Amino acid sequence: MLLTLPDVLSPSELQLARELLAHAPWQAGRDSAGTQARSVKHNEQLPHDCEAATHIRQMVLQGLHRSPLFFSAALPLRIFTPRINRHGGEANAYGPHIDNAIRLKAREPQEGGGTEYVRTDVSCTVFLNDPDEYEGGELSISDTYGTRGVKLPAGHAVLYPGTSLHQVTPVTRGQRLACFFWVQSMVRSDEQRRLLFELDMNLLRLRQQHSESAETTALTGTYHNLLRMWAET
Ligand code: NI
Repeated sequence: MLLTLPDVLSPSELQLARELLAHAPWQAGRDSAGTQARSVKHNEQLPHDCEAATHIRQMVLQGLHRSPLFFSAALPLRIFTPRINRHGGEANAYGPHIDNAIRLKAREPQEGGGTEYVRTDVSCTVFLNDPDEYEGGELSISDTYGTRGVKLPAGHAVLYPGTSLHQVTPVTRGQRLACFFWVQSMVRSDEQRRLLFELDMNLLRLRQQHSESAETTALTGTYHNLLRMWAET
């Protein structure tokens, strides 16, 4: 399932992110890629601990927590620490690859420190600048339904299955700024997550149109019983 999450970041948060990124210590992105991905990765990333990365990932995580759509679609168990990247100039593309299945995450002090493994069930990209600021730079995602190009307004995010082959096409003018991360979902299967998401969204609409009824109560029970059957915590 490929889904847009609108307005993960507010205009004032985006403004602050842009100011932080203007003076950030960018470095070559290939250092953090796996062996296959390294050969096609030509972009820049921020060091994990710099001020810009620290601040922007906090804003992104807060934005996700405000988003009921994110929770319903991803059913997050663990979120890999968001990273920030830039495509432009010499480092302008990230060729076709599938992300590593498992990432080792350094937990924040407030998460208890130490490390944990994160299985990359769902991938997410949050766009930090607008599409008219650069040429190219599409996130191109291929799965069994074909290939789709994604380029969203600043502050919007896209969720897509971690299993998909994807790339960032060359940026031929300007710079593309983005934040990306992975989610280990409580529900491993994309198909099951999609069913739960559709049930949840349609129940929401039914309730808005007809208010609560015996049927919506029963279907809400069905949702939770399916989640109980499929979720791992
Ligand atoms: Ni990737």
